Amino acid sequence: MDFLFPIIVANWKMYFTYNQARTWCQEHQQHFSELTKKNTLVLCPSYESLASLASLLNHSPVALGAQNCSGHTNGAYTGQIMAKSLQELNVQYCIIGHSEVRTYLSETNDQLKQKVEQLFLHNIMPIFCVGESKHEYENNMAFEKIHDQLQPLMTALEQEHHSKALFIAYEPIWSIGTGVVADNTHIHTIITYIHKLLDPYKKSHKIHTLYGGTVNGETILELKKIDLLHGFLVGKASTNFQELKKIVSLIVK
Ligand code: PGA
Repeated sequence: MDFLFPIIVANWKMYFTYNQARTWCQEHQQHFSELTKKNTLVLCPSYESLASLASLLNHSPVALGAQNCSGHTNGAYTGQIMAKSLQELNVQYCIIGHSEVRTYLSETNDQLKQKVEQLFLHNIMPIFCVGESKHEYENNMAFEKIHDQLQPLMTALEQEHHSKALFIAYEPIWSIGTGVVADNTHIHTIITYIHKLLDPYKKSHKIHTLYGGTVNGETILELKKIDLLHGFLVGKASTNFQELKKIVSLIVK
C-alpha cells in the first residue's frame, strides 16, 4: 500500500447523509488530483455511504477510510461492520478508538485489540486514536491515560508476525470540536512519548503519528511546525471543501 506524507484524514463523523456525501464527492472530484499532488488524502464517510463512495472514488487518487469496524470475524453481531466487507470495498484505512466511539458506544481495550487484529488480517491500516480528557490534562495524567489506551495496540503488534503499517492519532478530547488546540510543546511531548512506547515494535512495523482536534485552515499553520507528525485527522473542517483545500495547500506549502 502506497502513501505519500503528509496524510490528511477527513473524519466526516455523522455530518453528512448518504446523498450529501455522494454530492460532495461528485461536485469536487475534478479537484481530487490537485488535493493529492504532494500528500495523501483519505475520506472517511459514515458506513451507509462507504459502498457508494467506493465506486465514486474508484480510480481516484483519494483513498477511502471507515470510522469503525467490528472485532469479530462474522456472525450474530447486530449492527456491526465486518472488516472483510471493508476490504471488499477497497477501504484502506479504518479509524478505531475514537473518543466518541469510546464514549457513546463504550468501546473497550479488549474490543480494540480484536479490532486491530481484524484490520491487520484484512490489510486495512488502523488509525488508532488516543487522547486524554481535560481533567486528565489538567492533572498531569495524560501519559498514564495514553499508556493504558495503547496497551491493546501493543499486544496486537506483539502477536502480529507480518510487517504492518499503522497510524496513531493523538487527539486530546478537550480539543475535539472545541476550537481549542493543544499547544505544540504539549503535542510534541505526547508524540515523543508515543514513539518511545512503541519503539520496540518499530523493527517489525511501520508506525506513524497524526494529530487531531480542531485542525482547520487557521490552526494548521502552527500545527504543521511539529516535525514528528506524519499528518492530521480533521473532523468538522474537512466537510467544507474550501476549508479542506486550504488545509491541504497550507500543509504542503
Ligand atoms: P474536529 O474533530 O476536527 O472537529 O475537532 C477531530 C476528530 O474528532 O477526529
